[in-house]
Amino acid sequence: MFEGMWPMPNGISINSYVVQGEQVALIDLVEDIGDKPLQFERELNSIPLQAEDIDYLIINHMEPDHTSWLPAFFQKNPDLKLYVTAKGADMLKAFCGISENVYIVKTGDSIDLGAGKRLTFYEAPNLHWPETMLTFEESSGILFSCDAFGSYGAIADVIFDDQLSSEQHDFFINEALRYYANIIGGFSMFVEKAIAKLKGLDIKMIAPSHGIVWRENPQEIIDTYLRFAGYMTGPAEPEITIIWSSMYGNTEKVVNKMIQGVRSEGIPVHVHRVPNDHIGFVLASAWKSAGLIIGMPTYEYRMFPPMAWTLDMFGRKKVWNKKVVRFGSFGWSGGAEREMDLLTEKLKWDFQAPIEWQGAPDEMVMERATAASQSLARQIKSDGGA
Ligand code: FEO
Repeated sequence: MFEGMWPMPNGISINSYVVQGEQVALIDLVEDIGDKPLQFERELNSIPLQAEDIDYLIINHMEPDHTSWLPAFFQKNPDLKLYVTAKGADMLKAFCGISENVYIVKTGDSIDLGAGKRLTFYEAPNLHWPETMLTFEESSGILFSCDAFGSYGAIADVIFDDQLSSEQHDFFINEALRYYANIIGGFSMFVEKAIAKLKGLDIKMIAPSHGIVWRENPQEIIDTYLRFAGYMTGPAEPEITIIWSSMYGNTEKVVNKMIQGVRSEGIPVHVHRVPNDHIGFVLASAWKSAGLIIGMPTYEYRMFPPMAWTLDMFGRKKVWNKKVVRFGSFGWSGGAEREMDLLTEKLKWDFQAPIEWQGAPDEMVMERATAASQSLARQIKSDGGA
């Protein structure tokens, strides 16, 4: 579980980079978990380098997946110079108890490693935390981007984009989407700002701290991230995600009508049941879809609770600007609709009329479901999407 809550069935890589001039810099570190520090040291030794050979540690981002091993590493090399933004320096003290050997940098500052290697820093607030920065090595044109341009998905023997099969390439793009929706999506406006700030740099390679290194086509992952960021302001992809929940099957009976209605218009459809499907996967489908169909029964005058939790998460992660239909049954009184209005009032969603019924759905409900899903799909088609 990334951040203690996001499933990673395919794992994740935590990347750290060595830049060698006359002096040696390490960019980002690893998490102090399991055998990761040992593995890291083995790889460092294979260069060959020891901890005490490192002159500089560049801390692009203070989140513990990149820094929790730092106190132990600093003990091995107390002469290490730590480069970090001002906000990062506060966090370095708070998380690691380290305030010595700290050098605060801002956009445009650089360090010369000798032998033609120079590292220049670019503050990139909220990518992913407020203290984050990116590091650019000028002679090679490598941008060390930490969380930005990253993805889920462990790396085995293949490191670069040009070594991937088509299937592996699609895998990392899909894993980038899920990573983006889970971790970065709520900060999408900062993605666009950071990319604008990088204009003018001759970027030949993007080396994130999660996922593969983009050396054949670094622009692809930049464009992919811009596309993901654009989904927040919409329209997203011309696709529809159906998210549904049911207690005794009366809401469930309508799901197939919704699926068939969308498919009959030739629009791709993703289907998730909550709470059965983890929110991490639901978010990824919803983030990229221009349309949502959300089905849940009323539960004790309010919404079925797992769906309320899902929509609360949509609010936190800024799943904005969607075209939406709601459907669902109730037993003795409605209430789900009222709570849905409350939970989504800041999400800029464009709602069609809801379909709500008491008890089991009759033929008229089924017909309305088909008509509503077809109408939403037609609207998504005519909007065009990303
Ligand atoms: Fe990879 Fe925001 O940490």
